[in-house]
Amino acid sequence: MAKTIIVSNRMSTSVTRSADGFVYQPSVGGLATGLSTLHQQEGSLWIGWSGLPADSLSSAERDEVASALLDKHKCAAVDLTQEEIDAYYLGFCNDIIWPLFHYFPTYPTYDSELWLAYQSVNQKFFDVVREHLEPGDLIWVQDYQLMLLPALIKEAEPDSSVGFFLHIPFPSYELFRLLPWREEVLEGLLGADLIGFHTYDYARHFLSSVRRLLGYDHSLANVRYKDRLVKVDVFPMGIDFDRYSTSSEDPEVQKEIAQIAESPPAPRLILSVDRLDYTKGIPQRLRAFDRYLNEHSDWRERVSLVLIVAPSRTGVPQYRDLKREIDELVSIINSRHGTMAWTPVHYFYRTFGFAELTALYNLCGVLLVTALRDGMNLVAKEYIAARTTGTGSIVITETAGVAREMSEAIVVNPSDVEQIANGIHTALTMPEDEQRERIAAMQARIERYDIHYWASDFVGKLHGITETQRRLAGRRLQPAAIEAIRTRFSASERRAVILDLDGTLIDYTDRPRRAAPGTEVLALLAGLAKQARILVMSSRDRPFLERIFTNTPVSLMASHGAWIRDREGDWENLSPIDNEWKHDIANVIQLSTDRTPGSRFEEKEYSLAWHYRGSDPDLAGVRLAELRDALLSIVANRNLEVFEGNRVIEIKSSLASKAQAAAVWLERDAPDFTLAAGDDQTDEDLFLSLPGSALSVRVGHGPTEAAYLADSPSQLRLLLRAIAQER
Ligand code: G6P
Repeated sequence: MAKTIIVSNRMSTSVTRSADGFVYQPSVGGLATGLSTLHQQEGSLWIGWSGLPADSLSSAERDEVASALLDKHKCAAVDLTQEEIDAYYLGFCNDIIWPLFHYFPTYPTYDSELWLAYQSVNQKFFDVVREHLEPGDLIWVQDYQLMLLPALIKEAEPDSSVGFFLHIPFPSYELFRLLPWREEVLEGLLGADLIGFHTYDYARHFLSSVRRLLGYDHSLANVRYKDRLVKVDVFPMGIDFDRYSTSSEDPEVQKEIAQIAESPPAPRLILSVDRLDYTKGIPQRLRAFDRYLNEHSDWRERVSLVLIVAPSRTGVPQYRDLKREIDELVSIINSRHGTMAWTPVHYFYRTFGFAELTALYNLCGVLLVTALRDGMNLVAKEYIAARTTGTGSIVITETAGVAREMSEAIVVNPSDVEQIANGIHTALTMPEDEQRERIAAMQARIERYDIHYWASDFVGKLHGITETQRRLAGRRLQPAAIEAIRTRFSASERRAVILDLDGTLIDYTDRPRRAAPGTEVLALLAGLAKQARILVMSSRDRPFLERIFTNTPVSLMASHGAWIRDREGDWENLSPIDNEWKHDIANVIQLSTDRTPGSRFEEKEYSLAWHYRGSDPDLAGVRLAELRDALLSIVANRNLEVFEGNRVIEIKSSLASKAQAAAVWLERDAPDFTLAAGDDQTDEDLFLSLPGSALSVRVGHGPTEAAYLADSPSQLRLLLRAIAQER
């Protein structure tokens, strides 16, 4: 049976050593909790680090832990030494990526030793994946600790199905570009077939970084990356709704509730639950509560803040400093406002279990989430789900991913202490029927988009993509396809080969005017011409093509099909062309050129083009949309057509047509073998017009009618070389 392999730094079970042996406990943090439900299903294997340094264990202990994890928890452990944990986990992951991706750009020190450790630990994870990987398995890699793993898997197993999900924010390009190893990280991620983010903003930031740093374009969130399509999509993570919404029926939870309710710290309770982390805005929250008590002295003794901080990453200096700051703030507030009978802040520095936590979800009428940045924040969703009374309010900062899905919450700016304090007041004084209305709307959404939905949505999409890729693979110009075409070529007598020039026979360049086939390509054509008639077609004009192909025995089609010249003949005009239109439209295109640095206007014999290859991609996108609109409104009712190619938009007379010109040329010899290759929309028109027996090859990507797909001009030339072979 095919497996689903989840790979993450920390697996669902963490191991610690106690006086009585090893203790196996569920891991804390959104990722582990969130994915544990998927892991409970049959056929799941979780690969990750156990939480213990491998070199602190004897080899017998290591075996004991490994087999307990595998047999009882379906987890395969990756052994990390203390040194690796320091450099990869505390260093690279939590001292560089974590702060940078959470908009703390001054925290990281970009130490290349740490980068080396990150690379080698990702490789270690890959080694364990490889041990367990079988054909048909689906691999789902999680989070920022393993951003190089997708590419490692894909390189070794090109047919594997690899997904990646980032549980933290993907920062804006302006921040991401600060990372010295930014290209490597992007390339690592692009090894996946599907990359998921919590929110649209994160996906947008990622796509923009890919385009700006690697130059790979995307359309409809598909990145054309080398010979593959990588899909980027948004999957806001959910929770196990039923588990939380029925928690108050659990006897253990009821016991906890009864215990706390017996002597509550105050009549009204505000809850705050986080891992200890500077991204969570815990000091800001305390300051806001302090201000609240200052401004609303009538609420003293009537409300307490229950502050739960779960210890984490204590090996990173910033976390230790933060702990000190929180301790101080709590004692300042308690000593400033507290009375004999009332403590304003009840502070716990430990991890709470499910029963204790859900009891608090039940008892606290307000949840306060003030993250400065948070990928998602599942606590907010858990709280909503657990509010079976139907009442309750949430104050949440707009910089937590979850705020995108919670318009009914009280949304505040994390830097605005005043606004948070006001938010607390709104929450405490909100009429009950308004609370019910808001909670009900949020519950309905969280119930529908729960963790099962999230996981099956991601896994389902990944399956779909894998299927499509397998289908496309059948049309690729692989050796078998090349051989099949060659056989047909050899078996025929009158062969015709039609080749578009730019982007098909040769690569595009920044300066299209300078691009011309080199001697090698010309020699290839000359060789092929011994066995077939060749027609080279282009949008370029006659003088250019004549000059390039003076000594090459090929027929030429110039200016989009307006002119044709047989191998040994003169130019023939196939369509009377009227160029009256050019003047007005040239001004429109010139305006776009002036307003878009790096773009170029090109006037051709029967067409005008705007090239934006050299411009800022985002600006070019905006200008392109404007220009497209303008051109389309001009061409209406005129014999003109607008088409788009590779970073170019062009307008030409519709009387000049590659398809028509090719038909004229083909008729002259009634071939029994026809092969046509092209790379844009005008070539697609040609493919459609060819007889059914003709073969067609699309170079590059995008929807196509062609029978075969080539990744690049050089792959097409491989085919031409194969069929040109002397027999
Ligand atoms: C966040 C990250 C997770 C991580 C968790 C706990 O939720 O996205 O990848 O597991 O924090 O952090 P820790 O460093 O303790 O594993």
